[in-house]
Amino acid sequence: MTKPSLKLAIIGGGSSYTPELVEGVLKRLDSLPVTEMHFVDIEAGREKLEIIEALTRRMVEKSGANITVQASLDRRAAITGADFVMTQFRVGGLQARANDERIPLKYDVIGQETTGPGGFAKALRTIPVILDICRDIEELAPNAWMLNFTNPAGLVTEAIHKYTNIKSIGLCNVPVSMKMMIAEIMKCSPESLSLECAGLNHLVWVHRAWLDGKEITAEVLEKIGDGANFSMNNIFEEPWDPDFLKALGAIPCPYHRYFYQTDAMLAEEKEAALNGGTRAEQVRETEAELFELYKDTTLDHKPELLEKRGGAYYSDASLNLVDAIYNNLNTIHVINVRNNGAITTLPDDAVIECSAVVGCWGARPLAIGTLSPAMSGLIHQVKAYEQLTIEAAVSGDYDKALMALASNPLVPDITRAKGILDDTLRVNHDYLPNFSAR
Ligand code: G6P
Repeated sequence: MTKPSLKLAIIGGGSSYTPELVEGVLKRLDSLPVTEMHFVDIEAGREKLEIIEALTRRMVEKSGANITVQASLDRRAAITGADFVMTQFRVGGLQARANDERIPLKYDVIGQETTGPGGFAKALRTIPVILDICRDIEELAPNAWMLNFTNPAGLVTEAIHKYTNIKSIGLCNVPVSMKMMIAEIMKCSPESLSLECAGLNHLVWVHRAWLDGKEITAEVLEKIGDGANFSMNNIFEEPWDPDFLKALGAIPCPYHRYFYQTDAMLAEEKEAALNGGTRAEQVRETEAELFELYKDTTLDHKPELLEKRGGAYYSDASLNLVDAIYNNLNTIHVINVRNNGAITTLPDDAVIECSAVVGCWGARPLAIGTLSPAMSGLIHQVKAYEQLTIEAAVSGDYDKALMALASNPLVPDITRAKGILDDTLRVNHDYLPNFSAR
């Protein structure tokens, strides 16, 4: 890319995370000549959008940058002429997330916004909307890059690749957070670490880690087994079993706890749901506090309170990627891309999360080869669930939806799968036109 100016369109701009993104843009003006940011949201998010717009203007003014800030409900206007479209929206808002977390708990199943039945419900609501956005991009900004943060990010990115022609990369803050946590554990700078990452979104392993070229995978596993912090704000820090980590031989991500320590995580969730609320219900309070702060006309920077949310390093992950594409850096990033043979046993068109080289020409995953049976079993089962979920979301087919849930390793029984599915379809009726039309 040689354009001297960049336009960013941010879909879901009224999100409380937006100041993080704005801060990232302002930090990188030397390498990224952003001249326009257009935030979009829907009518229900209008008030938040206006608050974010005003705060962004104050942040931009303070920095002295020459950036036009726009906010509107007009998605097509935002996309027109955009170089990068960033998606960070939540169909149905936090209430839908709270439902996703509570419905499975009724059936003694993990209730989480991105994994298990909660992630399934979110995918059903999100895929039709994101495909619609992609059609606007195909028409109005066919050369733009879409960076998708919308959860479940890997699954949604696979739907984008399968059903549209736009250039898209899926992104998550888990890999960068893992790097920061390993740096903390090893008391070193993140820059001195090299990590080989591969798996699926929220199911990614660091297969090997090096510190200044010396392999440290076993040492990191030992320290995590000894209780070193390896979790994120939004996930219970269930201690890892040292024998299990040694046997696994790879560093699991914090979300792996839902799969490897299901009983303990379920017990934690049930306890939270009774006392204090599910994560969405807790986040609702933090979000209200954040917007009170954002409203303050003297605030001209990202407040610290935002760090209580789970999305740490979100802006670094996305803007480093913009930098790699715009400046053709050919650097390594952990992203969600088409497998294309990187994990030999998965189909080429499966989206995986892995270390990949990124430049202005796109992204290529680094080959990881064949996974050990321990990882391969889990990843194949989750990928089958993801594929069925995408098909269900696009077709509105009940049978596919049932098979998707029944294939999810966190759903142990088809009677429960059916109960969860029926509740999910009923509660989300207004957000699932493909299903309602049948
Ligand atoms: C992590 C995940 C994100 C998720 C976030 C939720 O960072 O990687 O995908 O959106 O947590 O955080 P929250 O504060 O909303 O629970």
